[in-house]
Amino acid sequence: NKKGFIFDLDGVIVDTAKYHFLAWQKLAKGLDINFTEKENEQLKGVSRVRSLEKILAWGNKTISDQLFQDLMGKKNEEYLGYIAEMDESEILPDVPRVLQYLKTNKQPISLGSASKNARTILERVHIISDFDAIVDGNDVSKAKPDPEVFLIAAKEINMKPEDCIVFEDSVAGVEAANAANMISIGIGSKDVLGHADYVFNDFTEMSDDFLKFLIEY
Ligand code: BG6
Ligand code: MG
Repeated sequence: NKKGFIFDLDGVIVDTAKYHFLAWQKLAKGLDINFTEKENEQLKGVSRVRSLEKILAWGNKTISDQLFQDLMGKKNEEYLGYIAEMDESEILPDVPRVLQYLKTNKQPISLGSASKNARTILERVHIISDFDAIVDGNDVSKAKPDPEVFLIAAKEINMKPEDCIVFEDSVAGVEAANAANMISIGIGSKDVLGHADYVFNDFTEMSDDFLKFLIEY
């Protein structure tokens, strides 16, 4: 029996939201916008362009296209500074166990991330070779909640969408998985991810038996 297992990256494999926050906060400060951690929550799973649009809207600011492009570049430079310091200690608890279980059971594994930095991060935390396919922000034209990223991720491992399972921490990502006709598994709080088929606070709560059930259903 085979299923396609598709992992989101940020918030599922590594907790990079804190670095996105620091980078966006620095940028917001420069624009005299007060950007809070609560607002940062709403940027999870949201593309880089859309994130900046939201921050500008919250701060009631309009800027030229040129400045918009410059700021996107600056934000990413700042973010990459944090990424450069990452190592395998930042892999979230039990992610290696889950990946190992799936590999032992010969299940195809794909990444489906909105980030254009996905490969860099997977390399930094030395986990890139666990993935049979990597689909990220460089490969899609439509951001989550559009299902495009997951549909490509399924295709790359030769699996039909209905035979795929998606691990996601964001509202938009769970919506995308549902729209792709895949099983959605929320990683995080039930209050936020109630629209997922299953929700776990983190991978430590997901047993090997549950993974077996997913493979065999
Ligand atoms: C998502 C993150 O995975 O990727 C978002 O949750 C981020 O916060 C988006 O904006 C795009 O990432 P990047 O690395 O291309 O700026
Ligand atoms: Mg995420």
